[in-house]
Amino acid sequence: MAKHDLDPNYLDPNYEPVVNHSENTPFHQVLAARMQRRTVMKGSVGAALASVMGLGLAGCGSDSDDSSTEGNVSNTDIGFEAVPTSTANEVVVPEGYSSEAFLPWGTPITGSYPEYKPDGTNTGLEQEQQMGMHHDGVHFFPIDLKAGGNSSSEGLLVMNHEYINQGALHANGATYVNDMRPADEVRKEIAAHGVSVVHIKRDANGTWDIVFGSAFNRRITGNTEMDIRGPVRGYSKLITKYSPDATATRGTLNNCAMGPTPWGTYLAAEENWHGYFANSDATQPREQIRHGVASSSRYDWELADSAEDKYIRFNVSTQGATAADDYRNEANTYGYMVEIDPFTPESKPQKRTALGRFGHEGVIFAPVTEGEPVVCYSGDDSRFEYIYKFVSSQPYYAATAGGYLLDEGTLYVARFNEDGSGDWLSLDLDDADFAAKVAAAQGTTVGDIQFDGFENQADVLLNTRLAADIAGATTMDRPEWGAVDPNSGQVYFTLTNNSNRGKAGYDDVNAANPNALNQTGHIIRWTEEGNDHTAVSFDWDIFVFAGEQGTETVVDGETVVSLTDDNIFNSPDGLWFDYNGRLWIQTDGSDAAPYQNNMMLAANPETREIKRFFVGPQGCEVTGVVSTPDVKTMFVNIQHPDGNWPDSSDPRPRDATVIVTRDDGGVIGA
Ligand code: FEO
Ligand code: CA
Ligand code: CA
Repeated sequence: MAKHDLDPNYLDPNYEPVVNHSENTPFHQVLAARMQRRTVMKGSVGAALASVMGLGLAGCGSDSDDSSTEGNVSNTDIGFEAVPTSTANEVVVPEGYSSEAFLPWGTPITGSYPEYKPDGTNTGLEQEQQMGMHHDGVHFFPIDLKAGGNSSSEGLLVMNHEYINQGALHANGATYVNDMRPADEVRKEIAAHGVSVVHIKRDANGTWDIVFGSAFNRRITGNTEMDIRGPVRGYSKLITKYSPDATATRGTLNNCAMGPTPWGTYLAAEENWHGYFANSDATQPREQIRHGVASSSRYDWELADSAEDKYIRFNVSTQGATAADDYRNEANTYGYMVEIDPFTPESKPQKRTALGRFGHEGVIFAPVTEGEPVVCYSGDDSRFEYIYKFVSSQPYYAATAGGYLLDEGTLYVARFNEDGSGDWLSLDLDDADFAAKVAAAQGTTVGDIQFDGFENQADVLLNTRLAADIAGATTMDRPEWGAVDPNSGQVYFTLTNNSNRGKAGYDDVNAANPNALNQTGHIIRWTEEGNDHTAVSFDWDIFVFAGEQGTETVVDGETVVSLTDDNIFNSPDGLWFDYNGRLWIQTDGSDAAPYQNNMMLAANPETREIKRFFVGPQGCEVTGVVSTPDVKTMFVNIQHPDGNWPDSSDPRPRDATVIVTRDDGGVIGA
């Protein structure tokens, strides 16, 4: 049965449809390769580490003396006492730290600053001026960033609102009248999605608050006008009634993680966007099949009783005479990284299509060098999907850098070889190797799709997953966040879990995803050849396997991590290197014993020491973390809490940001 057929599990927020049936790695190859890997890995881990450590790491790390470390590049020891697992409906932080909920869903941040109503009766118009729901990826932009500053007391906090809890959002949950949705409920739901830009400032007492009336305060929603940029702009398969020249769309949805750009803007990822569209046509185009668009949508917005264009567009069935008469192509305007300039409130968000169209979890930029290309990495979070890298055509110069750098370049997809090496496979039709694979695939069935070629590079990017299938990428166990170690340059990605890995009819294990029925996930990392982020090959290693007490990560016959009460975790998701080089790991997994509530841990990337730092309230995932440049104020997002966190007198749960500080004013994690 095709797994992309209408699937009632869409209402489960943790459900990920399996839409990759391309079976890239046949079983017999894997067995042979695993035998080989056992020998090769012995040397390769040490060699990879040595090559990285030798480059640009002077004065860095736990074995350097303190006098040689200054500012943000310093030691990465973990200094706090680990907190135990918790089932409490509150945030737990280590002794000597404090936490406070901030900017919960519904907080007025712009316009007429409409008050949050705990009875759920705020209107759609009011929600457009309030914090959205389901806080996720977050970044703090120092207010003086554009002037070269790094304020830790005032800035723009920008965050994603991934999806919604209809039961909490409305007075009586989602309602239907004659199978139609009241239009204002739909308006409110669309407004509770998107991105918030909040100008915040710390007062003399150390208390953070919104700067009321600031021109920077802004809501971007599922209905905000946006431009399509890059190679897919103007492509006929994006023609809609709203944009007959295929250059614009409305809204960004299911914004999971994000990435700050080197030029001070924010890229919001569009992850599980497919669930917002409904297509009842007898057959679907491959652009929808490979993502799992179904015959009904997650929230039924296309059924808004006002029948306004901005709502019926979520019905992507063929209805008019041509594409310019209906919204058959609307879903092709989603699945991108969306650039938002928080410092220019009147700017239109830009969908950067050169970075590919898939279930973008987020994006992470490699450090930039004057005169060199810009490089960023993005994972596609669905079972058996891929990890991608974009390398810009134009070089980076700080004085002139901007979003245009993301409009032209090469998109690669990762192949993790069994011997611990890896290759970046070009998805550019001008690449001879890729062009040959495309030619060879012509007329064959790739997964569920009868492949009849790509019209042009825009078509390749529109069908990025299909292109990656053809290129022969390695299917992964749900790539979530990535992070680049500021000290070593190594790239880390969480692979959150994949309960279908190795099951009959699905891809078998491979060296980079070695656990069958992977329930608890792992974190992979790699070093680009020559520590050059534009390289087309790399060496990889598994940083840690998540799991219960006693779970071991063994490298070269040596146990490098054995999990204990202090650091058991499952389903790593959020991942962030702070400005000192400590790695923060957030979880979105089972909250049953022994793990209990979801959490955040800190890790030393050199020693692999890991300690639990933070436990969230009941029912939540802990997702999104950033700090001020001095790493003395940390912002951690709590998504989909249960019950009535954070305010026990409020009947509704409210997603919120948690501000964490150290009582002695010190560096967090040190
Ligand atoms: Fe939105 Fe993959 O987490
Ligand atoms: Ca996530
Ligand atoms: Ca997740």
